[in-house]
Amino acid sequence: MSTQPWWQTTVIYQIYPRSFQDTTGNGIGDLPGITSRLDYLADTLGIGAIWISPFYRSPMADFGYDVADYVSVDPLFGTIDDFDVLLDAVHARSMKLIIDWVPNHSSDEHPWFVESRSSRDNPKRDWYVWRDPKPDGSPPNNWISAFTGPAWTFDENTGQYYLCTFTPKQADLNWRNPEVQEAMLDDLRFWLDRGVDGIRVDVAHFVMKDPELRDNPRATGTRTTLSRNHGEYDEYEHLYDKGHPDNHALYRDVRALLDSYRPERFSVGEIHLADWEEWAGYYGDLDELHLPFNFSLVHSPWTPNDIAKRVGAAEAAIPPGGWPSYVLGTHDDPRTATRFGSEQMPIAAMLLLTLRGVPTLYYGDELALPERFIPAEQQLDPHGRNLPGSGRDGCRTPMQWDDSFSAGFSPSGADAPWLPLSDDWVERNVARHLADPQSLLNLYRALLSYRKSSLSLQAGDYAQIAAPDGCLAYKRGELTVALNFTSDDLALGLTGEVVLSTYLDDAATAARLRPHEGLIIEV
Ligand code: NOJ
Repeated sequence: MSTQPWWQTTVIYQIYPRSFQDTTGNGIGDLPGITSRLDYLADTLGIGAIWISPFYRSPMADFGYDVADYVSVDPLFGTIDDFDVLLDAVHARSMKLIIDWVPNHSSDEHPWFVESRSSRDNPKRDWYVWRDPKPDGSPPNNWISAFTGPAWTFDENTGQYYLCTFTPKQADLNWRNPEVQEAMLDDLRFWLDRGVDGIRVDVAHFVMKDPELRDNPRATGTRTTLSRNHGEYDEYEHLYDKGHPDNHALYRDVRALLDSYRPERFSVGEIHLADWEEWAGYYGDLDELHLPFNFSLVHSPWTPNDIAKRVGAAEAAIPPGGWPSYVLGTHDDPRTATRFGSEQMPIAAMLLLTLRGVPTLYYGDELALPERFIPAEQQLDPHGRNLPGSGRDGCRTPMQWDDSFSAGFSPSGADAPWLPLSDDWVERNVARHLADPQSLLNLYRALLSYRKSSLSLQAGDYAQIAAPDGCLAYKRGELTVALNFTSDDLALGLTGEVVLSTYLDDAATAARLRPHEGLIIEV
């Protein structure tokens, strides 16, 4: 029905592979597990594309975001054949597969780094960022790891520090070395040649650093660019360790590589920047990333005014012809159901699926999985271990499928899942929620199905319209969307046909909003 490229009309579903479906019984999800659940994604839910967080060979210091071989599958997740089976099965259901590309850093166990650290004159020394200590032996500059502490690790053997923006087991690659660029793009070709449809670029704006590695200035005022507490990292203005203008040339190269493939390949960048202009810069002249992820709603207070302000700012910042994107939950942020409150999840779903652009839905948010409290001393996540209270384990708990053993996540008799289920898993699971005609899961299904059939939602303009206090209302093409953020009845005073209410019943009218209700109205 529309002539837009596939990636503009798709809805992305993010899978954290450790947590989706375990087929081997070790309590950890795997690629065959994802394959076995594709009917759920394609038919039950009606998703267009899946993005899988890293599944490459890895010591798992950051659960796969520490890649030891970019062209492999970690045995924990399966084999390359399992990957091919998955890809074919995704395509057989007319869905797309997006993989995670982690260019900023490799594992310290990647053979490139093993060579690089072996001696100062190794040919791969310059593939990473090595510097001498300061005369007093301290790190070369004041950069702080995103997981707190210095972003430098001293290597006793060669007497220099290497840069590691995340954990010491994630060494930053030196993208100013053309050999690194070539090797990384070669590894990317491996997946594109296999037929993957797109990439999600991990911390895309971190890759190029200030060539002089200048000290970052201290932050002035409060500056929150990320939703969890990043400790000391938040005390600096990140002028020199990320957001370097040279990133743009890199993404033009990546885009040229993607554009050399048919059918069309897609890129979405993980870009956390508070400055809208800088953020929108990653569209380039529509010749860089297809989309920078827009995380502003993840960091927004949950009020109609705050949401409207952020949507308006994004719409204004995006260059002509650029396409928006919206995210509510990720594997790095506290669960949406806990942030917004479970009674608000229906309007959050309607918001996500009726804004202009590409929505990304984090697995389990369709069940309103809550953030699982995991005490600091039990956190597996490196961020949580370094900064008690900031752990990400709580948003990565296993998908809950039914009320059988381990919520259907693992086969019967398996090891305990790597992270605990929610306390209410016997009720909070796909099978139970499918059977409840008014569940959030059935609302997601209705929204996804309606979105597919609606040109207004796929391509219509966005314009905020006047609404009573506590309500956010906007036009999308021929449609009006109204969301009630309060627990009161609100007079809306519109006329027209309600095409979908978050209550999923027949009692909705355009004249009023019931508590926490969202409506799509044909005025
Ligand atoms: C961003 C990823 O989303 C996060 O999970 C990871 O820890 C860091 N990048 C480092 O790769």
